[in-house]
This record gives sequence, structure tokens and C-alpha cells, in this order.
Amino acid sequence: MPSRLVCFNPSCRAEYPATAVLYACTRCDGLLEAKIDYDRAAAAHWKHLWRQRRLSNAPLDLSGVWRYREMLDLFDGFHHVVTLREGNTPLLPGPRAAAYAGLDHLVFKHQGFNPTGSFKDNGMTCGATQAKRLGLRRVACVSTGNTSASMAAYAATAGLDPIIFIPNGNIAFGKLSQALDYGARTLQVEANFDQILALVRLLADRLGIYLLNSVNPFRIEGQKSIVIEMLDQRDWSVPDWIVLPGGNLGNVSAFGKGLRELLDLGLIDRLPRLAVIQAAGSAPFYDYVRQADKGHFPTVKKPETLATAIKIGDPVSYPKALLEIETSGGVVERANEQEIADAKAVIGACGIGCEPASAATLAGIRKLVKAGVMPASADVVAVLTGNVLKDPDYIYHYHTGVLKGPHGEPLTSTFGNKPTVVPNDADAIAALLG
Ligand code: F0G
Repeated sequence: MPSRLVCFNPSCRAEYPATAVLYACTRCDGLLEAKIDYDRAAAAHWKHLWRQRRLSNAPLDLSGVWRYREMLDLFDGFHHVVTLREGNTPLLPGPRAAAYAGLDHLVFKHQGFNPTGSFKDNGMTCGATQAKRLGLRRVACVSTGNTSASMAAYAATAGLDPIIFIPNGNIAFGKLSQALDYGARTLQVEANFDQILALVRLLADRLGIYLLNSVNPFRIEGQKSIVIEMLDQRDWSVPDWIVLPGGNLGNVSAFGKGLRELLDLGLIDRLPRLAVIQAAGSAPFYDYVRQADKGHFPTVKKPETLATAIKIGDPVSYPKALLEIETSGGVVERANEQEIADAKAVIGACGIGCEPASAATLAGIRKLVKAGVMPASADVVAVLTGNVLKDPDYIYHYHTGVLKGPHGEPLTSTFGNKPTVVPNDADAIAALLG
């Protein structure tokens, strides 16, 4: 059977062709997911094939997403691929961060090394490819910043016409600047992310614009490559834990799906446990996994956090995320503003750096180690989702001791590194430097 889209709702499972322009099941309004009929016999050779492709200069092989294209066989061939050489992001050991969290070792998979500086590029290359394959011209997304930066870049590369909807005044400047620079039409809406997503879903249908949010199952497929590449880089040794920040919960859905598929194909021998960390002021999924009644999702009406990337109170992908947490024996933790800010400074002091949302990982790991959920000897990979330069204002304010929480409450600059103003005087500077 050809690859197709299937309703995620277990009591529905309606099927649609992979060329359907749909973001939800027309029968039950459930989420959609891609279903690929894998060539199981061939899968035994894929690890070798993927390794060999690292020696190739062909554009598809140079991409850290399309190198693994056997896992993305949804596009009726690969002639429409839109690539900026995404993926190829490093695994970086962070000994100081490990010590801070109470772990013996900690490795970061840094998605901020992507072409537009976030993990969104892994998914957007697939979303843009699907738009090209379908012959669509206008693409849209609502975003807390990174999706829009990524979509703008891939749309520009593909000759598509991008329209971006962002919450007015609530995205980091680095991200907004990228969207403008890549030439996207940018609408700043007087509403929060959740409200704008509902609006954009309506407009996409009414105006025939292709929606590239993570409700688009092709985005999720592309983001599977983050864990595939991670395992390839580890010579297929499965870590005990993969830790990531959670906002709209597309990424944890992608990781879980990719890992289950790798297990099913015999490419790994067990699943790692997934740990999702949310910002305490925007943590509906944290509450949801703890409540007995799974029939009701406890939406946060006014999400608050300085980690604007994950300032989301009504995450669309929560049913998928719940499945992945349950299947992997995973956990959901939350971190407050001070914990995120300090963890971010520690990641910076490792010479690595990341944006605030990404630092929720380290803050969460520290709490999970303290709580005895993660032993010190655990083999943990934390996924840093965005580049340090995405939100420079936050960093400057933290290090100069003026960072304030969402309600104006002062945050402590625990690991502050304030610049010093000095006169143009060699003696004075020499005296200062000792
Ligand atoms: N980290 C960063 C840096 C992000 O930009 C996002 C999401 C997340 C984590 C959370 O990922 O939504 O898959 O759970 N940013 C989206 C955006 C919402 O519009 O850029 P998620």
C-alpha cells in the first residue's frame, strides 16, 4: 500500500492519500499522522547506506534530514526536495552542565546549528517539499518565532510566498528579524499563539493557503530525523533519556514516532525514555499527565514565560505527546523562570549557549536528578532547540542583573557576567586586571 495519512484517533483511523491537503481528519477532527509502508527487508542495510552517504556531495546526502530519506518515503520520489543542508547538528558534551544537574555526563544535541538556528528546519524542509510537490504557492504559519524564521527561509528558497502570523510583541527579536530578512509577509496579531492558530486554521481553508504549523504531518516526519541522526552519531547506542522542551508538543510527537519506527524496523533494540520540560507558567501538559481524567485537557488561558518559544497554553499535539510519554516510560517536568535562566547561563558557560526555551532541558534534568528519577550515572541527551543568538536581549538582561519575570518580578543573576566600563587608560585597566 502507498504511504498515506491516517487519523491518529484510535477509534477512527480514517485514511487519506499523502497528497491530501488536510490538517485534521474530516471524519472526527483528529490529528493526522503519516503512515509509511517500510521495506522491512531493505531496512537491515540502511545503517550502512546512511553512513556511506556521509562521503557524498549530493545535496540530498549532505542534508541531515534527507540522508535518512528511507524513513521519509512519502513524497513519491525526492525531486521536489527543498533543502538548505539542514540537520547535521552536533552532539556536544557539557561537563559543567552535567555537574550542575548532578549527572556524571551530559551531552547536548544542538539543533541551534541548523541553517535558521532551530530544530524547525528539520521539519520545514519536508513541509516546504510537500508544498512544492502539491504545486501550492502560498504557505502560512503562526509562530512563537522559530517556525516563522524557518518557514520564511525555506519558502524563499523554494520560490513560495510565505505569510507569517505572530503574537504582537511576544517574540524574540532575533526571530522576527529573520522572517523580515528572508522576505516573508509578516502579520503581528493582537492575540496569543493559541488564539492565532485557531484563526490561521480558518484562514488557511478560506484562502487556500498551505499551513506549515506542526499540525501538518509532514513537519513531524522531518523532525523524526533529529533522533535518527542522534542515534547514527552514537553508533546506534540508545541513551537512557532524551530530554526536550515542550510547547506545542510537535517535537516530542516526532521523536516518539521516529523512535518507535526505528524499533519496529529492528534498527534499535529498545526505546529511550522521553522527558518533556515545560515552563512553569505555560505547563498544561505537565498538569495533564498528572490528572486522572484524560478526557479533558487543562488549557492554560494566559500562558506566561520569558521563554517565549514555549509560551503555549493549548498545545495541539497533546494526544500524540501523551502516547509517546506513556510508550517510552517518559516523564513531564516543569521549571520556573529562575531555574530556566540559571540553567541557560550554565549552558552558556560550557561554551555552548542556547535560547531560553532550550535551557528548560537542563533545569528539568536537575530537578529529575534531585527527585531520584534520573540516576547520576544515566546516559542523557538533552536537545537544545534554538541558537544562543535568537534572544540576545534576555541574555544581556540576565547578565547585567535586570532580567524581570513575566509579572515584573526581579530574577537573580546567579551566574551573572556583567561587562565593566573602563576609561581609555592602560594603567587603570592593568590595575583592574591585576
Ligand atoms: N524550543 C524552541 C526553541 C521552540 O521554538 C519551540 C517551539 C519549542 C522548543 C517547543 O517545541 O512546540 O514542538 O513542543 N516553537 C514553535 C514556533 C511553537 O512557533 O516556533 P514544540
